[in-house]
Amino acid sequence: MAEKFYITTPIYYPSDKLHIGHTYCTVATDTMARYKRMRGYDVMFLTGTDEHGQKIETKAQEAGVTPQQFVDNIVQGERGVLDLWKLMNISNDRFIRTTDDYHVAAIQKIFKKMYENGDIYKGSYKGKYCTPCESFWTESQLKDGKCPDCGRDVVDAEEEAYFFKLSKYAQPVRDLLTQTDFLEPRSRVNEMVNNFIDPGLEDLCVSRTSFTWGVPVDFDPGHVVYVWVDALFNYTTALGFMNDKYDDYKDFWPADVHFVGKEIVRFHSIIWPAMLMSMGMELPKKVYGHGWLLLDGGKMSKSKGNVVDPYLLAERYGVDALRFFLMRSFPFGSDGNFSNELLISTINTDLANDLGNLVSRTVAMVQKYFGGKLPAEQEADELDTELIAMASDLRAKYEKEMEAYQFQNALAEVFKVISRANKYIDENAPWVLAKDESKKARLARVMYNLLETVRICAALLWPVMPETTGKIMERIGAAEYAWDSLATFGVLAADTEVTAGDALFPRIDLAKELAELDAIREAAMAAAKAEREAPLPEPLPPVDFDTFCKVEMTVVKVKACEKVKKSDKLLKFQLDDGTGTDRQILSGIAKFYEPEQLIGKTLVAVTNLPPRKMMGQESCGMLLSAERGEKLNLVMLDDSIPAGARLV
Ligand code: ME8
Repeated sequence: MAEKFYITTPIYYPSDKLHIGHTYCTVATDTMARYKRMRGYDVMFLTGTDEHGQKIETKAQEAGVTPQQFVDNIVQGERGVLDLWKLMNISNDRFIRTTDDYHVAAIQKIFKKMYENGDIYKGSYKGKYCTPCESFWTESQLKDGKCPDCGRDVVDAEEEAYFFKLSKYAQPVRDLLTQTDFLEPRSRVNEMVNNFIDPGLEDLCVSRTSFTWGVPVDFDPGHVVYVWVDALFNYTTALGFMNDKYDDYKDFWPADVHFVGKEIVRFHSIIWPAMLMSMGMELPKKVYGHGWLLLDGGKMSKSKGNVVDPYLLAERYGVDALRFFLMRSFPFGSDGNFSNELLISTINTDLANDLGNLVSRTVAMVQKYFGGKLPAEQEADELDTELIAMASDLRAKYEKEMEAYQFQNALAEVFKVISRANKYIDENAPWVLAKDESKKARLARVMYNLLETVRICAALLWPVMPETTGKIMERIGAAEYAWDSLATFGVLAADTEVTAGDALFPRIDLAKELAELDAIREAAMAAAKAEREAPLPEPLPPVDFDTFCKVEMTVVKVKACEKVKKSDKLLKFQLDDGTGTDRQILSGIAKFYEPEQLIGKTLVAVTNLPPRKMMGQESCGMLLSAERGEKLNLVMLDDSIPAGARLV
């Protein structure tokens, strides 16, 4: 039976659209999962979304929707998380949402079990809390009085809460980190031991009462489970631990590796093993803490408007080129500086010049000199030795790097062979051989060596660029990707037949492209700035009370809502205004709301305006909303107020 391999990404917070940093980790995990599948492993690749917590509750309030509607939109909506993974060709076997019923019920059982075994107890929490990170900190952990993760202000918090006895596990966790390879890269071990374990591990606050958007503690109403307890156990509930939804916990747990960003290594290498020890469960074999993609030396952030949009890049350069760039350009364990220039020059150098040219030149020559099909009669030469040796050794070198999660180095090995093959063309000058009829067998061998080198390289590039390498294999008439066939030179049929195609990676005009990308980025930053600094509107002249009272403002409920055809701006509402007859209103807010989000909502309409026609349809009134800069919110009321109520 095939050996199992279980790999996970962090589950993402659907508080904003995902950016290139999130894409980086997911592409790396996908690359590793595909590599292991290519090697014959039975792979389980899990990703998902971490949907509870105060941050989501607050964002949903700001957007005027329920937390569930808010996360549904970011996860399943247009250009949401699921769309992004589909676009990026992510081959996850499973996708967990922490709001899934089976997960919620399992978390309640897990929490109760740790309570019953005495590792969770009730106490009172006093400390510092970072709301955006949903993290509690001790005074000594703060950096200049601020959250050590994000640098933002923390607040004093005190409340009745449950605690997990993290202190009890300090020694076993320390041993795990210092005496085994559990956490990599090893540099992260010192950070954990020196900054967190040795200063003294305090018990962890694992329930909250100040908000409700979380897994309820079923034996103590009012408490919700701390979002990190809820989130970390996803790796096991998604396999069926403490639930009947799935049944592969016994096959796949413990995980072979959790890929996580460096700022969440603390949760994965200290809190996670401690809780698993408390539950009497096996520990994952490895946690790998990767670095961040930085922009201009700093972290990407939505409020700075400097997040890099993976959709934009994939649409401009192709999904495979983007995947390749992410894996080729940065050492996985350290931070890397993202830049458009690096992206374009990597595509031009490696993909257009080296790989693209090797494939297109070779195929074109086989067509030109042999009508597309190589003759089986071929003649070897000493000149072939080095290329054949390099291509034959490539798999072993690549494997060594991939097993250490060094994607950049693994790809560098492949590109050494590709460069060598390009040089081999120049050394053998096929155009000279072609002029001499007696050199046909030699020419055929040169072409064969090139095609066979391309086969091995393309197959090893498959985990990173699944689409393009498929095309390459087709063009060179190769069917053999099997791992075993990649350490042997000479697997391709001697009389293989090639097919030409379009340029795999068209060269990009660097200067022109950079100018266009800069313009796009500047526009995004200007929009973010405008939003932050939108001027207050001019004050209006006073109105007398009687005039104000003439405006009829009525509570309405949204019965139906749809986009108006051929209009980017308008949404059409059918509203219950309490009269028993539906009222139709058109409103120019399509940019801000999806129609489904609004059904059932309680809004306010001005109902004594004369009807007017918009895009040929009648609008009887106006919905009230608030607007500043690029932000717009409809005025929404609590559902308990009935339709027809007047604003007074
Ligand atoms: O942390 N470069 O979710 P998240 C590289 N819900 N990686 C980046 C990055 C960047 N610029 N920005 C973000 C969470 N990431 C939790 C996880 S797991 C049980 C719960 C990475 O959406 C980040 O390092 O804030 C993290 O690993 C992942 O994206 C998810 O971040």
